Amino acid sequence: MKLKIAVLPGDGIGLEIVSQALEATKAVCAKFGHEVTYREALVGAAAIDAVGNPYPPETHALCMESSAVLFGAIGSPKYDNDPSAKVRPEQGLLAMRKQLGLYANIRPVTTFPSLIHKSPLRTDLVEGADFMCIRELTGGIYFGRPQGRSEDGETAYDTCVYTREEIERIIRLAYGYALKRRKKLTVVDKANVLATSRLWRQTAQRLEKEYPCVETEYMFVDNAAMQIIQWPKRFDVMVTENMFGDILTDEASVITGSLGMLPSASIGIHTSVFEPIHGSYPQAAGKDIANPLATILSAALMFEYTFGLQAEADAIREAVNASLAGKIVTEDIAGDGRAYKTSEVGKWITDYLYSRQISPHNA
Ligand code: IPM
Ligand code: MG
Repeated sequence: MKLKIAVLPGDGIGLEIVSQALEATKAVCAKFGHEVTYREALVGAAAIDAVGNPYPPETHALCMESSAVLFGAIGSPKYDNDPSAKVRPEQGLLAMRKQLGLYANIRPVTTFPSLIHKSPLRTDLVEGADFMCIRELTGGIYFGRPQGRSEDGETAYDTCVYTREEIERIIRLAYGYALKRRKKLTVVDKANVLATSRLWRQTAQRLEKEYPCVETEYMFVDNAAMQIIQWPKRFDVMVTENMFGDILTDEASVITGSLGMLPSASIGIHTSVFEPIHGSYPQAAGKDIANPLATILSAALMFEYTFGLQAEADAIREAVNASLAGKIVTEDIAGDGRAYKTSEVGKWITDYLYSRQISPHNA
């Protein structure tokens, strides 16, 4: 197969982690006989600094003509501390999501046996937790207009907007995943307060009838936030609107032991984007200490979702598990053991992939 990948490192640790994911991708392609080509482009603060636009047209053009996007992270303290900045790096990410039509953000939450002791929750609560958060990504309060300030600057407003069509599209997608998994869907909203949430619930209640073999439940977002901590194993697929999903997935990510482990896929109308769920960790930029595993696991999602190459995805996951088992890990998860560099972990995984025997039935 021919894989044409757009590489968007972004800011902070982006370049360091994305280059490790790219090396792992190349190794898998070499082993399984795929041809891979890639090109890099600017996004985020790096793009503002270079060309004054956090998602330049050339970057969009590259994404459009590629078969998948490997994305690092976005964000820089230079802009965080300046609320009056006219352009912000995050606008690049939002523009990319909107222009590529990436309406679904899929964040699988799974645990790693060797990391369970790092979870802030008791082992018996998290062991075996395995659920999937599906976050709507191109609507809601992130994109609703009007947004801004009153003339005197004393009042600010954001608008949350959802159309029935947008809701139906994401709920159907979530049912698709529930059907392939344990057949349970949790629809998270705030229908006791918000009009948009009532439209969500009404739409889901109508669609529910079309999926009789999936058990559908409805949960208010505050309750969901609590239950993720109290009983994470009760969830299978969870679907929710943009901002609720943003908040719940950060919460869900730490119960597995490290924010540095969780990958994500953003899919929709045009090219899909694969990125770690963590941010740009500017304090670590250039130090070669950030955990590359979430980005490497995002490359596994890319093989699985975009290219339908399951054995290739499994090979990456196997290599990541082997590195964890061998304690070839970065400082965030090393504990008392030796902390390896980002590049050392990446190289170990790449070497593993190159030397791995491919068994005849999955080659
Ligand atoms: C995420 C991030 C982004 C978001 C920021 C960087 C705009 O937190 O991908 O979860 O809020 O969507
Ligand atoms: Mg977030």
